[in-house]
Amino acid sequence: MPEHTPATPTGGLPADGLPADTLPTDHAAADSLVVRPVRGLPEFRPGDDLAGALASATPWLADGDVVVVTSKVLSKVEGRLVRVPADPAERDAVRRAHVAAEAVRVLARRGRTLITENKLGVVQAASGVDASNVAGDEIALLPVDPDGSAAALRAALRARLGVEVAVVVTDTMGRAWRVGQTDAAIGASGLAVLHRYAGAVDRQGNELVVTEVAVADEVAAAADLVKGKLGAVPVAVVRGLAVADDGSTARDLVRPAADDMFRLGVEEAVAQGRAEAVLVRRSVRSFTAEPVDPDVLRRAAGAALTAPAPHHTRPVRFVHLTGRRTALLAAMRDRWAADLRGDGHTAEQITRRLARGDFLRDAPEIVLPFLVAEGAHAYPDAVRAAAEHTMFTIAGGAAVQGLLVALAAEGLGSCWVSSTIFCADVVREVLDLPPSWEPLGAVAVGHPTEPLTPRPPRAPHEGFLAL
Ligand SMILES: Cc1cc2nc3c(=O)[nH]c(=O)nc-3n(C[C@H](O)[C@H](O)[C@H](O)COP(=O)(O)O)c2cc1C
Repeated sequence: MPEHTPATPTGGLPADGLPADTLPTDHAAADSLVVRPVRGLPEFRPGDDLAGALASATPWLADGDVVVVTSKVLSKVEGRLVRVPADPAERDAVRRAHVAAEAVRVLARRGRTLITENKLGVVQAASGVDASNVAGDEIALLPVDPDGSAAALRAALRARLGVEVAVVVTDTMGRAWRVGQTDAAIGASGLAVLHRYAGAVDRQGNELVVTEVAVADEVAAAADLVKGKLGAVPVAVVRGLAVADDGSTARDLVRPAADDMFRLGVEEAVAQGRAEAVLVRRSVRSFTAEPVDPDVLRRAAGAALTAPAPHHTRPVRFVHLTGRRTALLAAMRDRWAADLRGDGHTAEQITRRLARGDFLRDAPEIVLPFLVAEGAHAYPDAVRAAAEHTMFTIAGGAAVQGLLVALAAEGLGSCWVSSTIFCADVVREVLDLPPSWEPLGAVAVGHPTEPLTPRPPRAPHEGFLAL
């Protein structure tokens, strides 16, 4: 094997204003890397001296080497093996119980596959609980503290061989958007697990603002190429990397929740989406100029039309106001002005009141909900007739709320206003609708100027009571 040569800074041309001594170097090794399998290690059992066995197998270890250890051997020597029953069903039940116990949350579930976040913050299948390369009646749990195990092994190798090595503890895991598994670091000591390029400029003059190479994961993956899965080679040594100990550990490779754009797992996202759909809706009266996709309007209306209605009727119609919009709004405005004049308001007061309707004029789209109480039951007395009509009216309200919530779920703002209810005859006349169509207001729709965010639910004492 070649002698270990520390890498010299290669890339990292100066970014403006950065002193030369703070420039990031390249994470590439200065020359060739050697990745050497450590063969002949025994089958480890709880309590075995891993460091002793390793030291005997690798008397050639040198300063700067990276010892890459499959977490399974640490699970074994640290007693993280669990006996499982021979009966397949019982065995599966025990395995599942351990997967659940190791998980802090479940992100996704498909068939028998469970993707969890484990106590180490690692997201992977089955909380890392695994039956490969262990005896047939056992399963292995991940080491409790792989960073601690890495540090302890490093110290033990220093004590035995007098060498300053780095240690990486690996596990095999899938990646969300890639087929196949690779090894990644779940424990590390003695090397910078991340190589940050912020401030560096490549040869084409591009600043590498976000590039941050997960060196420990790359080391883990490289080592797997000589360890494999079938040859009982649980340890490899990587030689030739410029290893700098910055005190980081594999825990630093877990993306902080605040930076994680995909923090919510499938289950949580669905549950949160359900819980938040209603809370995201609010009356939006200010819209951007961005056009509303008509397909989105149709989709939201389709969802809203599934609202409950009496006697299995379908009493709601949504009218997307297009060609007759200007004429209708002008006629409604005239009627409103006449009503206000009739109430004795001054011209100035009337102008001020009418201005409140401007946002409807400015809204990118308007949808008019109507009630068509076809299928309503006829009653000979006024009380029941009114109750029947109330029933249909509230069904209309349910559908409109459904529309507003469905629009909000699509990121669209809306405001439901009463205007058409107060000039039903004008609306029917301009839109040429039969007398049975009862306007239920107007819904302004558009992209909100402020993004929609869920608001806190109202406290129960504001309207939820037990009698
Ligand atoms: C049947 C109905 C009629 C409404 N009419 C008007 C209206 O004419 N003008 C208006 O600006 N808002 C109108 N609103 C919206 C309410 O003012 C709004 O829902 C209320 O202020 C609560 O705000 P939020 O929707 O953001 O929770 C109406 C709401 C409903 C349900």
